[in-house]
Amino acid sequence: LAKIEINLNEIPEGKSVSFKWRGKPLFVRHRTKEEIDVAKAVPLNSLRDPEPDEARCQKPEFLVVIGVCTHLGCIPIADAGDYGPGGYYCPCHGSHYDAAGRIRRGPAPTNLEVPEYTFLNDNTIIVG
Ligand code: FES
Repeated sequence: LAKIEINLNEIPEGKSVSFKWRGKPLFVRHRTKEEIDVAKAVPLNSLRDPEPDEARCQKPEFLVVIGVCTHLGCIPIADAGDYGPGGYYCPCHGSHYDAAGRIRRGPAPTNLEVPEYTFLNDNTIIVG
């Protein structure tokens, strides 16, 4: 499917749900206030691939990323790694991503990719 519609009401706060989109995993995380606050407080100059949280999330409550490690393409694990709460960890070679999907430690060169998506309404996005 070129586009996928996701009902955000089905994603509980604090959870990352995996969908399949264009043959790849797509992670949608409903971020908690703490996850948002922690992600927003990270100094940009401490990031390998500096992107502010606002540039990665159209609405702070939801992170939408392609679930493919930017190192060599393994699938990261949600809610694991050193950059929680709400981070991702790639077990293949130890890349740690934060709750904005930004690379924080390990060999991956860039942040998890944010696909094109639009909000149809407050509770629905279309990815693609
Ligand atoms: Fe993820 Fe190498 S593929 S760390």
